[in-house]
Amino acid sequence: MESLSPNLDASATIFIIDDSYYNLDFLSIILTEFGYNVIAEINSETAFNKIKLFHPDLIILDIIMPKIDGFELCKMLNSEPNTKDIPIIFMTAISDIDQKVKGLNLGAVDYITKPFQKEEILARIQVHLRIRQLNLELEKQKQQLEQRVEARTAELSQTLENLKQTQLQLVQSEKISLLGQLVAGVAHEVNNPIGFIATNLYHAQNYVDDLVNLVHLYQQQFSEPGEAIDNQIESMDLEHVLKDLPKLVYSMKLGTDSVREIMQSLRTFSRRDGNTKKAVDIHEGLETTLMILQHRFKPQPHRPAIQVIKKYGKLPLIECYSGQLNQVFMNLLANAIDALEDSLMGRDKESKNLQIHICTSLEQERIIIQIADNGMGIPESKQSQIFNPFFTTKPEGKGTGLGLSICQQIITEQHGGSLECVSSPGKGTEFLISLPL
Ligand SMILES: Nc1ncnc2c1ncn2[C@@H]1O[C@H](COP(=O)(O)OP(=O)(O)OP(=O)(O)O)[C@@H](O)[C@H]1O
Ligand SMILES: [Mg+2]
Repeated sequence: MESLSPNLDASATIFIIDDSYYNLDFLSIILTEFGYNVIAEINSETAFNKIKLFHPDLIILDIIMPKIDGFELCKMLNSEPNTKDIPIIFMTAISDIDQKVKGLNLGAVDYITKPFQKEEILARIQVHLRIRQLNLELEKQKQQLEQRVEARTAELSQTLENLKQTQLQLVQSEKISLLGQLVAGVAHEVNNPIGFIATNLYHAQNYVDDLVNLVHLYQQQFSEPGEAIDNQIESMDLEHVLKDLPKLVYSMKLGTDSVREIMQSLRTFSRRDGNTKKAVDIHEGLETTLMILQHRFKPQPHRPAIQVIKKYGKLPLIECYSGQLNQVFMNLLANAIDALEDSLMGRDKESKNLQIHICTSLEQERIIIQIADNGMGIPESKQSQIFNPFFTTKPEGKGTGLGLSICQQIITEQHGGSLECVSSPGKGTEFLISLPL
């Protein structure tokens, strides 16, 4: 007895089941003396319910008992989630090898032999209580570890989400800046030669007018210029040339004017915003975007023209990144055009008016811009996904699925506004931008 260290876990509760009062008393006394809490039970049927209720740290179980024997009770305890982890020690006769093996196979952790050896019993109980305690600690640590892994996974997914967002922003600013640079460069390069042509056309028009007058004067003064000149006049159809030449020069002038206008729009569209917002006119942005897209509104072999119906309200200037807002208009209008074209698929191309409505208004300190089409609409199942990056229903190479996610980011994050979509499948779609003043 002196060789055993005192009970480390004084609060441990040990449940003893035996149909002999003698054994129960004997074990109870030595275990209580040693500092354990002891519950003793003579009836194995009652024992099962009491164990579930008290949930002891260790069970010492006799094998041969009336009604429910030790093996049976062991099985019952093992099949109960609440009790299956409580270590069970069997009591068996010293010589009964079969019983020992069967008990261990049923899940018991150990056995003690009758007649009892006090010190052996205490030593075994201590070992198993210690193992039980270590197991409990292990389980606790496992749970903590799982919680930490869960928290870490959540952190990592958040980081991944942030990374995706950053990547998207990078793609977006790269897209805008590359497009802007390209457009500004082209507009700049075209501007010089076009200016040159326009100036020279102005002089050319004066010269042509003078020359035409001069020819008329010659014709009046010299009504019979001779055969060679008469032949030339006839072969070149002088009358027609004199009438057509001024018109021709005039239409060339119109042409250069319209090229200059387009170039001006491109430069406005690609105006570099820098890091500061500027007060801009929303309608100017819409008009330049429409100008750039004008070739897509014209009739095409596979479809009639797209009508753009504008209803502009009176708006104040608004502080914003105009280049980015133009990018939003561009994306929404391009999507509307795509939807209108798709809505003609498998239909008679003249059977439908293709329309885009653009409305602007001022409502309670907010600027509202509505861009609506009467295209194919968006199926309800897809409406919640259209703002997700890379979501597209367009064939590969045609759509990247970034347009709307970029629009939403520009409107909500850069401008504190909101972008909403209302769509009736088969009828059309409306995007509503709301920007705070
Ligand atoms: N006006 C609209 N009518 C019908 N469907 C639309 C409309 N606008 C967007 N969608 C749907 O939302 C999807 C996502 O649009 P988004 O602009 O983000 O990408 P995309 O147009 O497919 O490609 P990208 O704009 O990058 O070239 C589209 O593929 C389309 O299915
Ligand atoms: Mg798009």
